[in-house]
Amino acid sequence: MSENQNPVQASANPRQAEYPIDPIYLERWSPRSYQGDKPVTDADLFGVLEAARWAPSANNGQPWRFIVARTPEDRAVFHGFINPSNLVWCQHAPVLLLLLSKTTFEANGHPNRKHAFDAGTAWGYLALEAARKGLSSHAMGGFDAEKAREALGISDDYEPQVVISLGYRGAIEQLPEGLQLREVPSPRKPLAETVIEGHFPNR
Ligand SMILES: Cc1cc2nc3c(=O)[nH]c(=O)nc-3n(C[C@H](O)[C@H](O)[C@H](O)COP(=O)(O)O)c2cc1C
Repeated sequence: MSENQNPVQASANPRQAEYPIDPIYLERWSPRSYQGDKPVTDADLFGVLEAARWAPSANNGQPWRFIVARTPEDRAVFHGFINPSNLVWCQHAPVLLLLLSKTTFEANGHPNRKHAFDAGTAWGYLALEAARKGLSSHAMGGFDAEKAREALGISDDYEPQVVISLGYRGAIEQLPEGLQLREVPSPRKPLAETVIEGHFPNR
């Protein structure tokens, strides 16, 4: 067993695809342990942001914005608006990103009803590229958006979506005991539960 492998993970693989897909979809998951002393290289950081750049979006509006915190000073500011239940582990992540979405189209100022959807797509691209590069990434909705707005000077036409931690995976022993048990890739619902042919069954 490799040093990072959780015994639960070793005994049963909760990630089995029902149809053939690229292995990266199963390999990406959201660990909480980081090697706090290993900075993310510029090539890896900007590489994952580059992947997000190529996400599709409504009218090609590209409403996602990423605020990067990777110096001790910038990360300390982020720590001030992240919920304690997340801070306990993500304080060790060498990079924190705040993903924002612009709520209006730049071209005409009209409301963009799909800004959150498109930012989510960008997060998905980023997470897959991070996994491809051997990095862990973890999205968090557990933060105070109003505090983040104030701390980072975010104007009203941007909506904070998630904080993302990024870094190289660390040993699970670094985590508090309760979180060690959760440091394992999660399963998914069967495809038949989330795919509906034609119309809802009771139509
Ligand atoms: C929008 C969003 C918000 C999330 N918020 C949190 C959070 O606040 N804390 C946390 O530990 N995980 C959070 N997660 C991680 C999810 O719990 C995780 O992605 C999910 O359980 C599936 O596991 P996997 O990413 O390992 O496949 C969030 C994920 C998303 C996409």
